[in-house]
Amino acid sequence: MNAFKYGCSVDGENFCARPDLSKPLSNYVESGQNLVIQGERRIGKTSLVKETVTSMRGWSLLYADFMGVRSVPDVCNRIVDALARFDSSDSFMRKIFVALVHLRPVATIDAMTGLPTISVDARYSADPSSLNTVMNAIESHVKGRKVCVVFDEFQDMLDIKDGEQVLSIMRGRIQFMSHTSFVFLGSARNAMMGIFMSPKSPFYKSAAVFDVGNIPDDDFFNFAKARFATGRRKLPRGLFEKILGFVDRTSGDVQELCDAIWQMSEPDDVLDDAHFERGLAFVFARENGAYAVFIKPLTDIQLRVLKALAVQGGEHPLSNAFLDEARITNTATIRRSLSALERTGLVYLGSSGWKFASPFFREWIRRRK
Ligand SMILES: Nc1ncnc2c1ncn2[C@@H]1O[C@H](COP(=O)(O)OP(=O)(O)O)[C@@H](O)[C@H]1O
Ligand SMILES: [Mg+2]
Repeated sequence: MNAFKYGCSVDGENFCARPDLSKPLSNYVESGQNLVIQGERRIGKTSLVKETVTSMRGWSLLYADFMGVRSVPDVCNRIVDALARFDSSDSFMRKIFVALVHLRPVATIDAMTGLPTISVDARYSADPSSLNTVMNAIESHVKGRKVCVVFDEFQDMLDIKDGEQVLSIMRGRIQFMSHTSFVFLGSARNAMMGIFMSPKSPFYKSAAVFDVGNIPDDDFFNFAKARFATGRRKLPRGLFEKILGFVDRTSGDVQELCDAIWQMSEPDDVLDDAHFERGLAFVFARENGAYAVFIKPLTDIQLRVLKALAVQGGEHPLSNAFLDEARITNTATIRRSLSALERTGLVYLGSSGWKFASPFFREWIRRRK
């Protein structure tokens, strides 16, 4: 049995209620307001939106994920897939089929889920104008119904060759679906801001910004305490504070560490620092190989900067203390190393300085000789 879940969106008993966010969110959706939802990775954006919309009476959710899209046919297929998953009834499938006929749709049975899916032929959907056809399919589908359309990891749209054109076509169609609420989620803050806040972008000022931050400590504590209690483990508040601080209050990392502590404890245990350490060791044992691969291509200087970042934090990487820690004399070297490290995805520049993408990797580096 697993009391904690991470690495995917969560719902039901794995979801800690967030009424402060889901109430305003559902009001926005009700009113047909388009939204751009932003927040750090693994903070809980996808879970919040899915859980909120699926619990709204009379509303349904059309969810498409654009993570890693590479081409126009890819974008079309993510949307078509979302439509097929939305309603797998024969009559609905037939309707989608007809709407997409120019893109040569093919129906198959998904080997994983056993459910019917539709995909369009890449040869007939390579042109950005194909987006018109799939957006039409959405439009005829939402007409007269209360549907919230969610486009997740939307910034990845910028990575495809005709990204700008795709965005412009989408924006054109979305504009006329005024009763439907479109919710755009993204985790790369700068890229999302570029899409929605840059005057040059077709999506400029087209959606209200909605921020998803940390789950309030008290709520998260009560949630975690109850989850641990299902396996007769007792979670003291003090230990939970330590967990929160260690992972910088990132929801997914809290759950990952709680899971590790769960694995390393027994029923009737009162959880303490020793369980915390065993939990960390459990994570390190699992990730060791991956971490070794991460650092292999780094130069000695980059490794020293990474270590200094783990030891000192990344608020003042150009300070003398940081330079001393990294045994580097020149701030330009630090800047260059941080940029190189950022390109690897191991660190990023957050609102309060440089941070590790993973707190577990940060600790592993901090402890490394
Ligand atoms: N409301 C919540 N309650 C408990 N855990 C959550 C909640 N939201 C997110 N999480 C944790 O964070 C992880 C990532 O959530 P997700 O919604 O995918 O985040 P994001 O979309 O911001 O990257 C989940 O797997 C879960 O462990
Ligand atoms: Mg997400």
